[in-house]
Amino acid sequence: MYKIAVLPGDGTGPEVVNEGLKVLKAIGEKKGIKFYFKKYDFSAERYLKKKETLPDSAISEFKNFNAIFLGAIGDPRVKPGILEQGILLKLRFKLDLYVNLRPVKLYPNIDTPLKDKGPEDIDFVVVRENTEGLYIGAGGFLKKHTPDEVAIQNMVSTRKGVERCIRYAMEYAQKRNKEKKVTLCAKTNVLTYACDLWERTFNEVAKDYPDIKTDYAHVDAATMWMVKNPEWFDVIVTTNMFGDIITDLGAMIQGGMGVAAGGNINPEGVSMFEPIGGSAPKYKGKNVINPIASIMAVQMMLNFLKENDAAKLLEDAAMETIGKLNSMSAGKMGMSTSEVGDSIVKYIKKT
Ligand code: IPM
Ligand code: MN
Repeated sequence: MYKIAVLPGDGTGPEVVNEGLKVLKAIGEKKGIKFYFKKYDFSAERYLKKKETLPDSAISEFKNFNAIFLGAIGDPRVKPGILEQGILLKLRFKLDLYVNLRPVKLYPNIDTPLKDKGPEDIDFVVVRENTEGLYIGAGGFLKKHTPDEVAIQNMVSTRKGVERCIRYAMEYAQKRNKEKKVTLCAKTNVLTYACDLWERTFNEVAKDYPDIKTDYAHVDAATMWMVKNPEWFDVIVTTNMFGDIITDLGAMIQGGMGVAAGGNINPEGVSMFEPIGGSAPKYKGKNVINPIASIMAVQMMLNFLKENDAAKLLEDAAMETIGKLNSMSAGKMGMSTSEVGDSIVKYIKKT
């Protein structure tokens, strides 16, 4: 039995999480896999009531689960940064979820804004370092609110942190078996300390994986190639900040925020899976948001739990329903949020 902690969160998070759970339960019944779910209310609502984001006790509790399923965090009533740092980043740091895994895969019947590119061209994975870099929150102000103000935001890369992320990318490329290619995406021409460490570590680690081809792209050029020649990429490994930026571009070329899912992975511990589209407050409670990203997050979770047959069935089922949708955008799907989930469940039951 798998124990799953469920954090529906804010905005449309609860709606898309419902559909994800609906589909996961159907898969469980079909494949004889048992799940135990426990819901947690960490969200803007709770913060506004109790002035608490995520207590340390929750972190210890989560360590007893097999995985965490997160809806979305973010609410216009709360100052930007509070929920992100207090919930999402705290989970990433305290549970040492050191890889942010972001597949960029265009499924058939989904439109990409890239002219003349199709599913055979857009199929790569970004392995984003998830616990270091510019995200650690180290820095400070000097002479704040004066004309002489100074702000410092430190980027920290450690040999250990960089190495484990690169090894994960190499092993992921071996398993994916596309071209067995890993591209380091950095900025060695400007970030001559941090990215130098990345490049040296990458070249050294690559020697342990002689079957893997290696490649390098500066991050600015990488955004250009992602648009012009996305077929060049198999696995991209990159820093936290660069990974954040290029994966939003990745989400757009695979059909948008309604489709893109991500995993926050600790290979030796509990990992967290989420649709990456955010809380979309304007669509909250309208039953119009696209739950496909959330359902694909569930698929990543099944793969992580090594339930590969179940993950494959879910992917087939989702693809069948995608074929029936008019669009991937909220309100334009030709189905409601819950109808998308129902349609996927129907396929799972009859297959
Ligand atoms: C993401 C998000 C987060 C990030 C935000 C919400 C802090 O954009 O998961 O990509 O920057 O990592
Ligand atoms: Mn992001």
